[in-house]
Amino acid sequence: MRRVAEKRCVYPGSFDPVTNGHVDIIERAAALFDEVTVAILHNPAKTGRFPVEKRMEMLKKACAHLPNVRFDHFGGLLVDYMRRSDCRVVVRGLRSTADFESESTMAQLNRALAPEVETLFLPASPLHSVVSSSAVREIALFGGDFSPFVPACIVQDVQNAFDPKP
Ligand code: PNS
Repeated sequence: MRRVAEKRCVYPGSFDPVTNGHVDIIERAAALFDEVTVAILHNPAKTGRFPVEKRMEMLKKACAHLPNVRFDHFGGLLVDYMRRSDCRVVVRGLRSTADFESESTMAQLNRALAPEVETLFLPASPLHSVVSSSAVREIALFGGDFSPFVPACIVQDVQNAFDPKP
């Protein structure tokens, strides 16, 4: 078996918007790897609430304290992006058994498509196990207080996206 010590990983996702749970995973990956690339899925069929540029701006603000984290976006298959980036480790967070089911399916599909790419799961910290971007969007849409679930530096950005335009 060929052993290769990997120094870089990719943390892919929609980040629509970034949550405290995402930042927790990014911080922990940044402590394990020399370099972490946070890669935002650009899906033309699913535009999302925030444009990709805005998602990246919010991610950069939320991770400003992490010097070994860089940001990118990709379209198409994750494994193709991994090959283009010459990177073999995908990091994903797991919040629940439901996450485990969907994430292990995705990891196995990715492994079938690109056997050299490994997926590493980091369990969500209990504090963040119920936080999701979709929950943040829904709470914000109906005027609830979503601020405990996102980094303080992006609260206003999220609020602005949901405030009724005059
Ligand atoms: O934050 P999300 O929405 O849970 O992230 C999901 C993401 C972006 C990691 C996943 O949907 C993805 O990798 N999409 C790219 C298409 C792909 O490669 N799908 C997996 C094989 S079916």
